[in-house]
Amino acid sequence: MMSSKAGVVVVGELNIDLVLWKVPMPVYEQEKLAEDMRFTMGSSSAITAHNLSMLGTPVGFIGKAGSDIFGDFMIDGLRRGGVDTAPVIRDRALKTGATIILANPPQKALLTYMGAMADLRLEDIDWDYVSQARHLHLGCFFLQTGIRKDVGKLFAKAKELGLSTSLDTNWDPDDVWGDDLQEALAHTDIFLPNDDEAKRIAGSDDLEDAIATLEKRVPVLAVKQGGGGATLCAGGKRYHDPGFRVTAVETTGAGDSFNAGFLHRYLSGAEWAECLRWGNACGALAVTALGGTGAYQDRQTVASKLKELLAK
Ligand SMILES: Nc1ncnc2c1ncn2[C@@H]1O[C@H](COP(=O)(O)OP(=O)(O)O)[C@@H](O)[C@H]1O
Ligand SMILES: [Mg+2]
Repeated sequence: MMSSKAGVVVVGELNIDLVLWKVPMPVYEQEKLAEDMRFTMGSSSAITAHNLSMLGTPVGFIGKAGSDIFGDFMIDGLRRGGVDTAPVIRDRALKTGATIILANPPQKALLTYMGAMADLRLEDIDWDYVSQARHLHLGCFFLQTGIRKDVGKLFAKAKELGLSTSLDTNWDPDDVWGDDLQEALAHTDIFLPNDDEAKRIAGSDDLEDAIATLEKRVPVLAVKQGGGGATLCAGGKRYHDPGFRVTAVETTGAGDSFNAGFLHRYLSGAEWAECLRWGNACGALAVTALGGTGAYQDRQTVASKLKELLAK
């Protein structure tokens, strides 16, 4: 359990990533070869939790996994990152899900079997645990099919308990961007979409339009723009930060790491421009290694790499 009211509770999905790197598009009845591969911790929410913990913010994870090797791998990975996994529910009847990533930088195609993540429900939430934290983050809204319709309720109750809330929907595989999202946004303090998601959610092909629409819906809006950095609307002001130039190895987890950097500085009371700068720096750091947590394996290295980036 977290000892003080200082941490973040992440409510999220747990699945593994198998990244096949530099691979041609698959064709039925044919075998194609990848140049490299890596088996890593996947899941938007788990990557945010892991990397936020590696930055030094205490993090606990609420989620569901199968009683299988993939589940063990995910929980071990979170623990190695210092995340409290005590509230993770293991269910023998379920399989921990998996994502196969075909990565041809800067592009990637993802194939996911959801598994246990679809089974986490509002009834599974340990409110005593939540009440000890300062902030609640939910990632991968659309894949968490068991709880997504109740995220509005989850956030409303968290706010009653004194927590702030943040949401990163990630992409909607059905491309519907439904009413349950609108309900969740009504109780979201910090909304963290990428540019394509922001456009879909706002129903506009124009990013400026989309930002203008969404900034009226939430107190804080941070729109991630890949190698172009990010735009923040907060406290009635607009900030843009062009991000950092790095050699992109693989972009999985860039947005999730942006969330980690942004929330880390937000929770230490930093100015908005600095939260944005840190989000970008943490996103940039993530793309320098394979997998969402590849660049976040050692606290000292993370600190020195970020220091180097932020000095630029
Ligand atoms: N090629 C890149 N070079 C430098 N920074 C990057 C690059 N790609 C992503 N980032 C950083 O990571 C953040 C999130 O990436 P983005 O691709 O927008 O989100 P998502 O991973 O959710 O699609 C960006 O706002 C940026 O700060
Ligand atoms: Mg994302």
